Amino acid sequence: MRVGMACDHGGFELKARIASGLARAGHEVVDFGAFELDDTDDYPDFVIPLARAVSKGEVERGVAVCGSGVGASIAANKTPNVRAALISDHFSARQGVEDDDMNILCLGGRVVGHELAWGLVTAFLGARFSGAERHIRRLQKVAALEGGNTGGRRTSCRRGRWHKVQRGRGHHGRLLDRCAGPVLHGHIRRGGRPR
Ligand code: RB5
Repeated sequence: MRVGMACDHGGFELKARIASGLARAGHEVVDFGAFELDDTDDYPDFVIPLARAVSKGEVERGVAVCGSGVGASIAANKTPNVRAALISDHFSARQGVEDDDMNILCLGGRVVGHELAWGLVTAFLGARFSGAERHIRRLQKVAALEGGNTGGRRTSCRRGRWHKVQRGRGHHGRLLDRCAGPVLHGHIRRGGRPR
């Protein structure tokens, strides 16, 4: 999987460990910094570029590490299509994806040990959104708050991101729901029913 990573000084060491573990496990790691340990750096400078890359589908998932993981999760969640959470247990690392389609895992580099952090990352990356109707309904209510959207219907596109749905006619005049996000997402589902 293509996984983006970001940290500030509080998460610098843990990010390096996780990044090398992910590379060893065959993942492609895209590093958004910090690239050197600087006690005066600011987590938004690294976490926001990561969050934007997740939002645009440039990386499938993200892992953000600051000292507590709190600042990273606050910053990441300001970006549309990002569902970030500060996680410190395996159950939430897995269920956060299955139920809530979490796409950025936030960790506290000064809170969790290396082994626990690695277990959380592998549980997060190994989980998939269930697509259950009740979870889609809940996520649609959350997504309706984003970007000034006042409640237009949204659905998840093939890449697991949430966009407004645009109704249109495809080949042979068939009704299609298209993702109103970037063109590369293509159509979501035929027949006009939300997933
Ligand atoms: C930096 O000292 C620290 O405040 C930051 O890494 C993070 O814990 C913020 O939430």
